Amino acid sequence: MFDAIEARPADPILGLSAAYKKDKNPNKVDLGVGVYKDESGNCPVMSAVKKAESLKLTEEDSKAYIAQAGPESYIKHTRELLLGNAHPVLREGRVSCVLAPGGSGSLRLAAEFINNNAPGSTIYVSDPSWANHVPLLSSAGLNLELYPYYDYASHSLDLDAMMASLQQAKKGDMVLLHGCCHNPCGADLNHNQWQAVTELALANGFTPFIDIAYQGLGDGLDEDAYGLRLMAEKLPELIICSSYSKNFGLYRDRVGSVTIITENSESCVAVGSQVVATAREIYSVPPAHGAFLVATILDDPELTTEWNDELTEMRDRINGLRKMLVQKLQETGVDKDYSFIQNEKGLFSFLGLSKAQVESLINDYSIYLVNSSRVNVAGINNANIDYLADSIAKVL
Ligand code: LMR
Repeated sequence: MFDAIEARPADPILGLSAAYKKDKNPNKVDLGVGVYKDESGNCPVMSAVKKAESLKLTEEDSKAYIAQAGPESYIKHTRELLLGNAHPVLREGRVSCVLAPGGSGSLRLAAEFINNNAPGSTIYVSDPSWANHVPLLSSAGLNLELYPYYDYASHSLDLDAMMASLQQAKKGDMVLLHGCCHNPCGADLNHNQWQAVTELALANGFTPFIDIAYQGLGDGLDEDAYGLRLMAEKLPELIICSSYSKNFGLYRDRVGSVTIITENSESCVAVGSQVVATAREIYSVPPAHGAFLVATILDDPELTTEWNDELTEMRDRINGLRKMLVQKLQETGVDKDYSFIQNEKGLFSFLGLSKAQVESLINDYSIYLVNSSRVNVAGINNANIDYLADSIAKVL
């Protein structure tokens, strides 16, 4: 049965961690997988999470299954974090929210739910997008179309090309948008651009499918949700897949959500029941640990403040590193303007290098980055910035 199976190459993103770990070069730099790192290069457990974990240890008195949609307080807080406390769709009872295993689990659950109910629907995905979007969504049975998003020459979002391409998206189609901190390019839609895409969705009838995995790591928790809150207000339907991997540092605990806004409260109940039934067909019930931590923190004003302060520190550090990288690259005298990195948001930016230059950074300098030249800015620190900037200058 297994004789003819061939090995697959390592994952283009996750495979970088294994290669980095094996590398013996003392100057090695890890700018690969998108996890937040502190100044010492560690991906820390947030202090509020540690406290919630010790509470869990004393308070948890059963390991029985949790509710299929997830704990009630988790769902309440997730809706409010995404939409704000007073969003009209909350009052109107049009928001269904289901706990899912991480951001990828949420995307897959949403895609399977769509495919169960409208088989072979088309989803438009930005080019470029997170390297796992295409395999994850297409293997769930969705039909994929790409729309242009980023202009590599000017290092900026190409709204005209994007809008022209999305003219083809019609009722019954979905358009995948990155809620904030676009992965891999860091170039986000501004308010006017969100409004333009919202108007197009309203005119043509397509349903936006927002992947928001970095809320709070761009400009702030509310600021980063501008686009999705606008769309939730103006459009009859919206799909949101969110993750607590990055903003709570709960990567390995796999905690995320599928939030669906429907035209009315009756279809909201029906949609919620279909999403949990779809999850039942795949993994039955969601994991509890991460959801408990998120709910415990957001239920407690002191823990919420502690978490928010740490998140703010992380965001400020990332934005500071962006400035520092631009400055250090300028100081090397490279004949290239890198100031765009300073305007981009979240963990990622492209360095605008060729495949050969990326390979040279990895093989000759032990600097690990994705082959598209995407770097995880949070992997930079005071100890490696000079080596990094000099090495980039050398491969250029
Ligand atoms: C990334 O883009 O590096 C992260 O989202 C991790 C992953 O699963 O690819």
